[in-house]
Amino acid sequence: MPDLVIRNLHANIADSDTEILKGIDLELSKGEIHAIMGPNGSGKSTLSHVLMGHPGYDVTAGEVLFEGQNLLDLGADERSRAGLFLSFQYPFAVPGVTVANFIRMAVNAHRKGGPDGTDDPIRIPAYRKQLMEAMELLEIDKSMASRSLNDGFSGGEKKRFEILQMAMLKPKIAILDETDSGLDIDALRIVSEGINRLIGPDMGALIITHYQRILDYVTPDHVHILMDGRIVRSGGAELAHELEASGYANISQGVSSDGV
Ligand SMILES: Nc1ncnc2c1ncn2[C@@H]1O[C@H](COP(=O)(O)OP(=O)(O)O)[C@@H](O)[C@H]1O
Ligand SMILES: [Mg+2]
Repeated sequence: MPDLVIRNLHANIADSDTEILKGIDLELSKGEIHAIMGPNGSGKSTLSHVLMGHPGYDVTAGEVLFEGQNLLDLGADERSRAGLFLSFQYPFAVPGVTVANFIRMAVNAHRKGGPDGTDDPIRIPAYRKQLMEAMELLEIDKSMASRSLNDGFSGGEKKRFEILQMAMLKPKIAILDETDSGLDIDALRIVSEGINRLIGPDMGALIITHYQRILDYVTPDHVHILMDGRIVRSGGAELAHELEASGYANISQGVSSDGV
């Protein structure tokens, strides 16, 4: 079975009859990069919110399995410990806490009751070594480690922090919602290069994005087009190029799902 299985997922805005996700089917395994693309208002952020367990949405039908486990029954912290990385899973502004200390807390929280069965906090020298290696791999300036989380990070720096956190937590599947309106081309490049460096047989990624530009930097194995709460087309990287050439309007005309 694929590591992440989304079946017939329907979701409403919480406590309302407004359905946003109208039956999403998606399967993703470690080692694969999938992109979900779609026009504004198609439900991309709703999908990432539902996968994160955001209280603003009610799942009305369908299921999400992560390594065979019912994801929708798990709290956000449990999802993270199980090996799912969701962007924006931690509050960003924590006064006086440095990047290095924040990520160490996240790593330690992960170890508690984690699959490796160790509750002991990571030893500081070992942590430092891992952090420095991750920063080197991602070409992040070492000075970032000692910066305070609330000292005005730029959009690009927030993305570096997010990717660094991802490198340290070593998720099985990373879900990245890149619909942030503040996401400039630099930030997009940082995320894409980070994914390219971290992806491997033990990690897969789902990139949720409005921008086909991301494909200048990362080549997804599968591309899915989301429109009005449904995946209307799935294909390989060429689908994104088709989209770039002809736009969403033309995609919607031949509404059909050719599967993956
Ligand atoms: N909490 C909410 N309250 C009202 N409408 C919402 C809410 N969340 C999403 N929507 C609506 O659902 C649709 C999909 O939104 P969203 O998932 O943010 O789309 P995307 O990220 O693809 O731009 C939009 O029409 C949006 O206005
Ligand atoms: Mg959005």
